[in-house]
Amino acid sequence: MLKPGEFIRDLLGSDAGRTVVARGWVKTRRDSKGVHFVQIGDGSCFRDLQVVLPSETFDEAALTEVTTGACLEVEGELVASPHAAQRVELRAHAVRVLGAADPTSYPLQKKGHSFEFLREIGHLRPRSNTFGAVFRVRNALSFAIHRFFQERGFLYVNTPIITASDCEGAGAMFGVSTLDPEKPPRTSQGAIDFAQDFFGKRAFLTVSGQLEGEAFALAFSNVYTFGPTFRAENSNTPRHLAEFWMVEPEMAFCDLEGDMRLAEDFLKFIIQAVLDQCWDDIEFFNQRIDNTVLATLEHVATSAFEHVTYTEAVRLLEQSGKTWEFPVHWGVDLQSEHERYLTEEKFKRPVIVTDYPKEIKAFYMRANDDGKTVRAMDVLAPRIGEIIGGSQREERIDLLRAQLRAHNLPEAAYDWYLDLRKYGSAPHAGFGLGLERMLMYITGMKNIRDVIPFARTPGSAEF
Ligand code: 4AD
Ligand code: MG
Repeated sequence: MLKPGEFIRDLLGSDAGRTVVARGWVKTRRDSKGVHFVQIGDGSCFRDLQVVLPSETFDEAALTEVTTGACLEVEGELVASPHAAQRVELRAHAVRVLGAADPTSYPLQKKGHSFEFLREIGHLRPRSNTFGAVFRVRNALSFAIHRFFQERGFLYVNTPIITASDCEGAGAMFGVSTLDPEKPPRTSQGAIDFAQDFFGKRAFLTVSGQLEGEAFALAFSNVYTFGPTFRAENSNTPRHLAEFWMVEPEMAFCDLEGDMRLAEDFLKFIIQAVLDQCWDDIEFFNQRIDNTVLATLEHVATSAFEHVTYTEAVRLLEQSGKTWEFPVHWGVDLQSEHERYLTEEKFKRPVIVTDYPKEIKAFYMRANDDGKTVRAMDVLAPRIGEIIGGSQREERIDLLRAQLRAHNLPEAAYDWYLDLRKYGSAPHAGFGLGLERMLMYITGMKNIRDVIPFARTPGSAEF
């Protein structure tokens, strides 16, 4: 029978004098004369609980399985700690090893491991200090995202994960099929006959819930979807995942200005929420991962974002006097080096770039009167580059049809999406925030693989 226990977070906040039960995994064990010290953590907070085991009660034989990684249940008395860093420690009366961890093979030792090595033990790294902090912040961030939208009356909608629509029109989608890859059915022309596939046509993992989100915005006014999205682009970079989480609000009766205002309010709110809820974790990132994290977050939470059009941004980049790996002129997409120059050197704060050339943006963005640009906005953050992509949507059916043609997309595949413009169309806008990009920004972690529990990237889908 398991005894009722308490979380270490709550025990560390308690007064001395109570008899309690704590459970957790051994971080370290230290033996000195007459007493053993064991640090245990249960993931509930950044700090560990120090367990004190007097040798008179616990002889060597009783403690052979108390080694790094073992799971313990400790009953004892909370006593005032002589260390300034913690209020209380646990003087053990009884220790039960719930699960031993063979010390000759347990891979997660006290010594600092590289993040590359920790990725190889993705099933154990959540127990390390850094990843404990990462995933507590991820949890707080997700909750803050829901809170922001719920407090403003947005409807949470679950858009499908399997879809036949290519939202971004970029073709970087994973197919979903039950056809036998060795001998798929063929049409009389010899092509694979997807009419015989599970869904009766080609289907994919979604790259974005936006299109279905628009259908709901044109019924519920303000909605958001928040779920996994998938991109089969072969981008082996520290900022790309094949499976990542995206939150996408969509608002009817909203233009690009309203969209940008919401994005800025939203980022400030979620940053402040994480600072309030995860102070110890953020302090750790600031001390151990990137010493600009705290100042940056406090600055972003309180100062206005910079706004610049794409045309103006290109002019600034051309005038910067820098030599770019990817040369810059009007019409090219901005690369990471350009985004970082604007945020880190030119403006030293988040920058919202608007009105991109229509050729480099998705088909659904609203055309500007100049005939060249669309009502797009990207929010760029120092260190990370793009963290939000959004736009006002094209609500005029003729212009939307023209855009589909210009992007070489088959109108038939978007018939339901065009219906939304045929029946009760309204001006509307929205954006998508990549959860992992935001986490990189908040934590200072340099590789996106280290802010998602189990990363999926080209060539790798472990665990
Ligand atoms: O700019 P993107 O492609 O925009 C959309 O998908 C729109 N449908 C969103 C909308 O308007 N509702 O992606 C949005 C964000 C990016 O700014 C970035 O933060 C993140 O999603 N993102 C990725 N994150 C990790 N790995 C990738 N491969 C990502 N691709 C995009
Ligand atoms: Mg984008």
